[in-house]
Parts: sequence; structure tokens; C-alpha cells
Amino acid sequence: MADAIEINGLTKVFDGLVAVDHVSINIAEGELFGLLGPNGAGKTTLIKMLATLLMPTSGTAKVSGYDVTKDPDKVRRCIGIIFQDPSLDNRLTGKENLDFHARMYGMDRELREKRMDEVLDLVELKDKANILVENYSGGMKRRLEIARGLMHHPEVLFLDEPTLGLDPQTRRHIWEYIRNLNKKEDITIILTTHYIEEADYLCDRVAIIDYGKIVALDAPKNLKDTIGADIVSLEISDSVDKDFVAMLGKFKWIKKMKEHDGFLDLSVKNGETRIPELMNIAQKAGVVVQSVSLRKPTLEDVFLHYVGKTIREEETSVKDQVRERMRRRWHN
Ligand SMILES: Nc1ncnc2c1ncn2[C@@H]1O[C@H](COP(=O)(O)OP(=O)(O)OP(=O)(O)O)[C@@H](O)[C@H]1O
Ligand SMILES: [Mg+2]
Repeated sequence: MADAIEINGLTKVFDGLVAVDHVSINIAEGELFGLLGPNGAGKTTLIKMLATLLMPTSGTAKVSGYDVTKDPDKVRRCIGIIFQDPSLDNRLTGKENLDFHARMYGMDRELREKRMDEVLDLVELKDKANILVENYSGGMKRRLEIARGLMHHPEVLFLDEPTLGLDPQTRRHIWEYIRNLNKKEDITIILTTHYIEEADYLCDRVAIIDYGKIVALDAPKNLKDTIGADIVSLEISDSVDKDFVAMLGKFKWIKKMKEHDGFLDLSVKNGETRIPELMNIAQKAGVVVQSVSLRKPTLEDVFLHYVGKTIREEETSVKDQVRERMRRRWHN
């Protein structure tokens, strides 16, 4: 199958900050591809370069065979984009929002009407088409934005955080639309998310991105298989005892250990058979284990494995960095 997107060494630097760092990915036609990473990882920047909204600092990218810097107009004709931040006109109705977009693409009236019907049907908003968008719920607005992105029959659709801030039920609903689109309309979809379950549930392949770099890329199942073991998670009171960790480090059957948020996660094959032994060791070391859980690896564990932190810890640290930056700006 041909590639819908070819990215080679794509890099974006903002005032010395490397937001996207030599990314190379090929995405096949018809693929549902996910970019998973914490806040500030570079997801939006990468998508914006592919959508011709930001000039790369270096590297190249082709979308539907067209170079994003040499042929931006042709690229724009082939793509649809749903932005991370809301971009609807609240003072217009749903239909008026779609119509405005279609006019910008030079679609004639007959075609516009026909396509509006189709896309409104697709996101189940037909009965709300003539209501002002300011009266839509968050989920309805997101669906309308998806419909708008589809108006001009794009071959490639970029969805930047499609379900950010939506409640779990609405999120599931949107997932179904995205899946349907990918299968029924045969559109290549690239979505960004920092929701692990979203990437896991929806995507054929996922690229984990951190500080602008792709740290892992594969089908969710293969990524999870690279962990190769179960996760036995010990909840430990207060901070994790160093001697205990050193003691555990001597056992070959413990493949990896990670401390986070008062938990000690151990990668262990056939985890259930090792729990009694682990309890014995903890008791000998005088460590109080508050709870034990066993689970098969998730993409969160994959993230932890490659990045060394959970996606949530990473989010806080980025927020702290932003706060620190604001503080400095304020004081200078
Ligand atoms: N126009 C800009 N000027 C300067 N720095 C920028 C600009 N746009 C993004 N950045 C920085 O580049 C880095 C990557 O930002 P980006 O928005 O791509 O991340 P993201 O993965 O989409 O994050 P989020 O999950 O919060 O949407 C961040 O450190 C951000 O502050
Ligand atoms: Mg973003």
C-alpha cells in the first residue's frame, strides 16, 4: 500500500527550544495513526507542520505525495484538520459553520448541500443543524468540528486531541465516529492524544513522543509485548525503602523496577506465582505493603518503560516548568 505521509528528519526549533526533534515516520494509506505524548511533547507542532501551518526548521514531509513546503496548496486540498482549541463560530448555526468552510474550498451550492447532509448524518447532528452553536454541548461541538473537517473529502484527516476535556461517555461516542470514518470513508487519520486508552483503543499504530522525539512506534499490542512481563505493583507506605529496592534487585526474575507515586512496579513473568515470595521479602525487610495488584502491561507501562515516568508525572513536571517560566518572566 502507498504511504499517505512520509516524514523525514522533521524538526522544529522555537527560540532554541527543540519542539520536534528529527522525527521520521511513514504512515500508510488508510491507517489510523496515533501520536501519544504528555503536554508539551511536540504533538501539535508536528501536526501543524504536516498541515502546512508551520514551517519546519529542517527535514522534509510529504502528504499524499506533496511536499509540505514546496506544494503547500496541494497539501491543503488533500487534508482536513480539527484543531486542539475550539474553532467554531458560536454565533452561527451548525450548518452555517459548515457552509462557510465549504465556500472557502470553492464548493458549489449543490455540492455543499449534498455534502453537508452526508457529514451531519455521519456525526448524528442532522436534527441540530439549524441551532446556534453556542447552544451545543461540548461533545456536539467536537462532532461538528469533525464534520467540518470532512466537508471537502480529505484523504488525510488530522485530529489534534479529539476528545480533550470531554466526559468518558462522550469520548467513547467520538471514538466510534473516528473508527467509522476511518473504515467507511477510507480516510487516513492521524490523531494526537495524551489519553493512553484512546491511543490503545483506536489506533492501528502508535508513536510515543516525548520532548519532540519518537521514543517508540508500533501497534499497541506489539508495544505492550515488548514489556514481556506482567506488572506487579506494590503500594508502599511513605517513601520506598532503598534497602528493600536493593534486596529486590538481587532477584533475576524481577526484570525491571520503577518507583512512582508511592508505588513500586515490578516487571515479572507469570506475576501471580511470585506474589507470595514478594510478600515474604517485604516482611523480612520490615516494609509495609498496603496493597498489591497484578496487571498485564498497558500503554502507560510502555510509556513508563521508554520515558522513565508515567504520563501523569510528566504532565505535572511540564506544568511546573511553565509556571517557572511565567514566574521568571514576571520577575524580569
Ligand atoms: N509558537 C510557539 N512559540 C514558542 N514555543 C512554542 C510554540 N508552539 C509550541 N511551543 C513549545 O513547543 C513545545 C511543544 O509544544 P506543542 O504544543 O507541540 O506540544 P503538545 O504535545 O501539543 O502539547 P499539549 O498536549 O499540551 O497540546 C512546548 O514546549 C511549547 O511550549
Ligand atoms: Mg497539543
